[in-house]
Amino acid sequence: MTVKMPAPGDLEPIETASRDELQALQLQRLQWTLQHAYDKVAHYRQAFDAKGVHPSDCRSLADLASFPFTAKADLRAHYPFGMFAVPREQVVRVHASSGTTGKPTVVGYTQGDIDRWSDLVARSIRASGGRAGDIVHVAYGYGLFTGGLGAHYGAERLGCTVVPVSGGQTEKQVQLIEDFRPDIIMVTPSYMQVIVEEFRRQGKDARQMSVSVGIFGAEPWTEAMRRDIELSAGIDAVDIYGLSEVMGPGVANECIESKDGPVIWEDHFYPEIVDPDSGEVLPEGSEGELVFTTLTKEALPVIRYRTRDLTRLLPPTARSMRRMGKIVGRSDDMLIIRGVNLFPTQIEELVLQHGQLSGQYQLVVTRQGLLDEVEVRCELAPEHRHADRDAVAHELQHRIKSLIGVSARVDAGLPESIERTLVGKARRVVDKRPR
Ligand code: DLL
Repeated sequence: MTVKMPAPGDLEPIETASRDELQALQLQRLQWTLQHAYDKVAHYRQAFDAKGVHPSDCRSLADLASFPFTAKADLRAHYPFGMFAVPREQVVRVHASSGTTGKPTVVGYTQGDIDRWSDLVARSIRASGGRAGDIVHVAYGYGLFTGGLGAHYGAERLGCTVVPVSGGQTEKQVQLIEDFRPDIIMVTPSYMQVIVEEFRRQGKDARQMSVSVGIFGAEPWTEAMRRDIELSAGIDAVDIYGLSEVMGPGVANECIESKDGPVIWEDHFYPEIVDPDSGEVLPEGSEGELVFTTLTKEALPVIRYRTRDLTRLLPPTARSMRRMGKIVGRSDDMLIIRGVNLFPTQIEELVLQHGQLSGQYQLVVTRQGLLDEVEVRCELAPEHRHADRDAVAHELQHRIKSLIGVSARVDAGLPESIERTLVGKARRVVDKRPR
């Protein structure tokens, strides 16, 4: 493997600007964003007024701490388009991600937002060692999920040849990798492991493939997984982070020359780390919940968005922008099953809608081979104790697949077969994955 170091002129000036220059730009953009949100989004006007703050109170970056947080629930409360800061006609694209209940969180982009997103993903691919002329195999899902289209537009923007494969059909992934000889693959790390397994199953050595870099994200992964993928696939594995509400993939990306945590593209996103319980901003370097304020987004500016991701901010190394540590967990109960975000409450809603079930349920999360799997355990209501359990399970499984997009095993047990929690919170998730 040869690591492609950025040649002079490859980087944008802001990537190597001084901290002072960067902070001056951040403050100017932050002031614009606060005013834009206040003027154009009723929710922000009300939230700022309720807290007694006005955009003009933000005179330094530290002043942001006096502004209210935004949560996924706020986006859901204004479903579908109520958080948009531009007339709907100026929104050229929407994406959506799972919410804590049946309705997704909808995000929107102006043409300018799509352009900046493409630029940032292009910057991310370049930080990962990609260059114009490379072939990029995109195996993130295409559709409402931001992964596929986000990666796609960024790779095109950099001047790459994009192969828009999307997820699934593992045999075909292998065939296309062998025939098209891509330089880069963009995919969830867990699915990369499945692709490597498929090579093995076909009696081939993945280390012989043309790909030299994988850009992996959308789910938590460890340094151990990095080593495993790098050795078994013979590639450099680089971390890309992002979330729909803030933009999509490309909020932060690791540099291939340092591989020391994703660099947050701070000229577009202002990060804070807060105590997940009190909301207090924590000192630089402490572990806590990552909060983002967008600095350039037109259609959906977000102010102090609570990501629920737990990590820490790290000092700049390969670029002048700060890095984030690996995500160590989440402060809510969101699961990520094969790249699809899943909240237990989404399952709860479907269980409760089913006339023959009691409403008690449990999610058992396991790792089968390389992928996380979920089994939904529920039980018949006493008055339906003679119902056909297989048929009930099948029906629920079908609804989970079609409404949430997750393939789950479902077991419908006899009445009262689910363990009851007698004190404290119900144990909805039984996590049996190896740590
Ligand atoms: O997963 C966007 C994305 C697509 C990122 C492709 C990277 C690559 P959502 O579906 O809204 O957006 O899920 C966002 O996924 O809050 C994290 O919990 C998790 N996540 C995303 N990237 C990483 C990563 C996309 N590199 C949620 N490491 C986030 C750990 C990640 N967790």
